[in-house]
Amino acid sequence: MSRFQIRVPATSANLGPGFDSVGIALSKYVTLDCQPADEWFFSVPEEDQPYIPSGKSNLIYKTALFTAEAMGYEELPSTHVELTNDVPIARGLGSSSTAVVGGIELADHLLGLGLSRYEKFKIACEIEGHPDNVGPAIFGGIMVSNYDGEHLDYVHFTEGMDDLTWLAIIPDYHLETEKARGLLPVEMDYKQAVNNSGSANVLVAALATKNWALAGKMMQSDRWHQPYRQVLIPGFSSFKEILEKEQSLGHYISGAGPTTVALFDVWDEGKRKRLELALEDYQVEPLQVNLSGAETFVLAPEK
Ligand code: HSE
Repeated sequence: MSRFQIRVPATSANLGPGFDSVGIALSKYVTLDCQPADEWFFSVPEEDQPYIPSGKSNLIYKTALFTAEAMGYEELPSTHVELTNDVPIARGLGSSSTAVVGGIELADHLLGLGLSRYEKFKIACEIEGHPDNVGPAIFGGIMVSNYDGEHLDYVHFTEGMDDLTWLAIIPDYHLETEKARGLLPVEMDYKQAVNNSGSANVLVAALATKNWALAGKMMQSDRWHQPYRQVLIPGFSSFKEILEKEQSLGHYISGAGPTTVALFDVWDEGKRKRLELALEDYQVEPLQVNLSGAETFVLAPEK
């Protein structure tokens, strides 16, 4: 087995009312540089070491083993995996999905499974429970999917998104998805649910027809989850005025938060500088769509 590299993009889920269903792959990456070894070991960047284990409790390894077992194998060839991580942990940019998808890609390559993207997606949903981050991490672009624990349906689209900028406003604190999901109601009024479903439908239709202004408007119309989660993201209510001044089309809590993502169809250096200044307490990163999804590259042997 020669050296190989797996690259998995960050993702931003929900896009407002597309709760647990809509997601986009963005231009931040986790890379796994892999080579045969005597035992399994993950080299983890120093700043991530408190959160990412280097042994077999690593989520990437656990997912790779889950995938192998699902395909009838009992073990995986021992590998040294060197991680390079540009996706901040527990910030709403799909860091756990990058690990799940990375693990599936790893098993697929090590065992020569030849899994289709749909098969990878199905395994990832079994682990993650909802498809909105793992889908775009595998396929790239925008994914609209539904998973009920058994059936998995999706629509994938990539067209016309090259000129958009997805501005990630990343706070310096972690927010665990479980905590953010714990704030959501157990039930919702029928009329309210119908309304929310309508917003999600218009969001998806607007994205599919490249009506970015309407998509941006819909991002802010969500009543499924954002009203309940804002309490965990103290700066969120202050972003609207700042972003509208720079002609953002709309913004939303990315995944379970705490990152906010704002959509722009026109972007320039002036906007970047002014927004960095206005949002100086945050890491502000203008991102583009990633269209390829997870990729594996075979590398030349080390000399
Ligand atoms: N749809 C998920 C949520 C994304 O908002 O909780 C985070 O896993």
